[in-house]
Amino acid sequence: MVNKCLTIAYAEYDSVAELPEEDRRLMEAAMEATESAYAPYSQFHVGAAVRLADGTIVRGSNQENIAYPSGLCAERTALFSASAKYPQLAVEALAVVGFHEGQFTEASPCGACRQVMAEYELRYGNEISVLCYLSGGRIRRISGVKSLLPFAFEAEL
Ligand code: THU
Repeated sequence: MVNKCLTIAYAEYDSVAELPEEDRRLMEAAMEATESAYAPYSQFHVGAAVRLADGTIVRGSNQENIAYPSGLCAERTALFSASAKYPQLAVEALAVVGFHEGQFTEASPCGACRQVMAEYELRYGNEISVLCYLSGGRIRRISGVKSLLPFAFEAEL
């Protein structure tokens, strides 16, 4: 028996303003996307934005449903929208942010969204950078979905 330990590397920025230009624009797009959220049941608005290989930004927001499981997270709304419209362009980065009770707040992709991001890494053969808005306005930047979803399902089908 061997005990092993996994280390997860990530960066933290003090504010949106401190991000490199293209990541700052991506997070700002995610912040704007919170405005299109349909969240009458949770009142928790989530905005996501995806940057594609040619710089195109595609937005998404959470879309809830009276039959709760039929709703969809902001991240998957953005990813599926990008893939449906620009299937030939790799996903480079994704930003996510929450908006609740009048202010931006922390959001981090749920497990199902991480699994979908892993699929796009597999599909296009590149790592996706994930930017999460943290409480207090800090930003976490994780390079590669492996850090968000270690030991993910893999199969040679
Ligand atoms: N939600 C997202 O949009 N993204 C996540 O990563 C987690 C949760 C949404 C689902 C639901 O509409 C609301 O946030 C509250 O859970």
